[in-house]
Amino acid sequence: MEKSNISKRKSPIKRFIKFVVNHNKMSIFTAMIMVIFITSIDLVLPMMTKNMVDKGITGKNLELLLKIIVAYSVMSVLARVLNLALGYIYATMRNRVAVKFRLKVLDHLSKLSGKFYTENKTGNLMSIVQSDIDIIENIDAELVFSIIKNSITAIISLYLMFRLQSVLFVVVVFIQILLVTTQRYFTKNIHSNVSMFRDEYGDTSNVVQEYVYNIMNVIISKSKRFFISQFIKGQRGLINKDIKIDVLMSGNMCVANIFNLMMSMAIYGYGGYMIINGDFTLGSLIAFQNYAGMLIGPCISIVNANNRIQQAKVSIERVYSILDEEPVIDEDQNMLEGLRADNIKEISVENVKFGYENDESEKKYILNNVSMKFKRGDISAIVGESGCGKSTLSKLMYRLWDVDDGSIKIDERDIRNIKLMSLRKCISVVSQEIVIFDSTIRNNISLGKKIPDDDILRVCSLAGLDDFISSLEAGLDTEIGEKGIKISGGQKQRISIARAMLCDSPIIIFDEATSALDNVSQDIIMDSIKKNLEDRIVIVIAHRLSTIKDVDKIFVMSNGKIAESGNHEELISKKGIYYKLYRNE
Ligand SMILES: Nc1ncnc2c1ncn2[C@@H]1O[C@H](COP(=O)(O)OP(=O)(O)O)[C@@H](O)[C@H]1O
Ligand SMILES: [Mg+2]
Repeated sequence: MEKSNISKRKSPIKRFIKFVVNHNKMSIFTAMIMVIFITSIDLVLPMMTKNMVDKGITGKNLELLLKIIVAYSVMSVLARVLNLALGYIYATMRNRVAVKFRLKVLDHLSKLSGKFYTENKTGNLMSIVQSDIDIIENIDAELVFSIIKNSITAIISLYLMFRLQSVLFVVVVFIQILLVTTQRYFTKNIHSNVSMFRDEYGDTSNVVQEYVYNIMNVIISKSKRFFISQFIKGQRGLINKDIKIDVLMSGNMCVANIFNLMMSMAIYGYGGYMIINGDFTLGSLIAFQNYAGMLIGPCISIVNANNRIQQAKVSIERVYSILDEEPVIDEDQNMLEGLRADNIKEISVENVKFGYENDESEKKYILNNVSMKFKRGDISAIVGESGCGKSTLSKLMYRLWDVDDGSIKIDERDIRNIKLMSLRKCISVVSQEIVIFDSTIRNNISLGKKIPDDDILRVCSLAGLDDFISSLEAGLDTEIGEKGIKISGGQKQRISIARAMLCDSPIIIFDEATSALDNVSQDIIMDSIKKNLEDRIVIVIAHRLSTIKDVDKIFVMSNGKIAESGNHEELISKKGIYYKLYRNE
């Protein structure tokens, strides 16, 4: 994925933090106050221990000892209870952020160009939308607040340690500096390895995805071996990287723990020596040890947090690489006017040139000066050999791609000057690749909208689904399984045709929408189209010519151009390409 305009934008991390803050102002404020409160209690407790030992135990003052124990217990319990409440606030924040962030990404995905969809594999996008956002979700507010809490704790501990024993303080600080230096080395390494790991992970999950999604076809086409060998190849590299990351992370922890040990020994050694000499009290030593623990403990968790943040940083960057992908809608799109659906009279393709960029980014034009006009109330057909660019034309009208030259206009307005969402509302494409959801027949036709049964049954009968539905016990409420696995290819096509008949877009494109049906069924459906979509612009892309004999106008595509056009009789009498195609059927 290219990162466009990245220099002009703030870093992904900053933008992500801004996103989180904007959606959680109140929670952040409450959590902040609670964190400060808990931290203060934590910092006071060692001082109470010091008094407990020095004044209570060593000073043999039982009453004072009891008082301090009660106060200590109450404050500790209070801090734990507050921590519990804090956990609840973190959890709500975490879920809110994850859901909103995922929605933001999904919404953005729907606005990108066809080029983006072609170049980015589903597995990669899935791994970004799923795993990367999961990882980001995992760093959550708790981690951020623990860093704030730990930093405050560390700084105040430092001050109190200095007050208690300045020589020991210097030793402790020295060890801390060593710790921070080694930690930086690990962090850098972990970051680069995690980033490589995640990229490769996306690649192998592509293989798994294709395998699982097409499991039946994979078995039928005997291509299991191929998939498995590709999977193993990818997995090998992945395992090595994963092990390396694990070793680095454990190494990081191990070094931190060794420094912790060194620090304890220094405190007991030098502190003990001072007590023996009568220059230090036992209570002070215990308090010092506690504060030192509050220093190294938080530092170790900052190191840990850092590991997780490094991982999340990679994920945040990957997610923002999608969010930074320019949508088809550019900024001034919002200034553009929409379309009035009921006013549309014609759509015209004028001298359109278009080619897909291939890997060497040289262009081979698939459409070369194509011009045609589709009028409201007419049914037009586009025919031509497979691969000649018929589906491409419908994608250009839907603006999944933009034309390289020439223009597509709706009522004299270039579609590039129309609000994208409004343009797409006016066009329905029944495409060759049918999307079927794991839901009921009803939901697959209405797409979740509340529509009266009568209307749904009407379009079902237009699409020739009525016999099938009445044969089912649950009727419209029959579940058709993931990707419509429980229905046939023809039934899927009928569902998508019913779906199109239900919508009121003024422009409807049927892209080989009946290819899986027999001739008789095709004719019946063409008849329904003719009778029920009278006042629309209907474009039928067809492979078999027999189905489109009766349409108002036929465009014959060949070599990137419109070779012939006219109605069936005119084209037959021309004795050109159409005539030959028709005779050969
Ligand atoms: N996303 C794409 N990227 C690159 N080439 C494409 C893409 N989609 C289609 N093509 C190529 O463009 C040509 C026209 O495709 P298409 O419009 O689907 O033909 P058809 O007339 O069969 O519908 C084909 O040669 C096809 O390989
Ligand atoms: Mg096609």
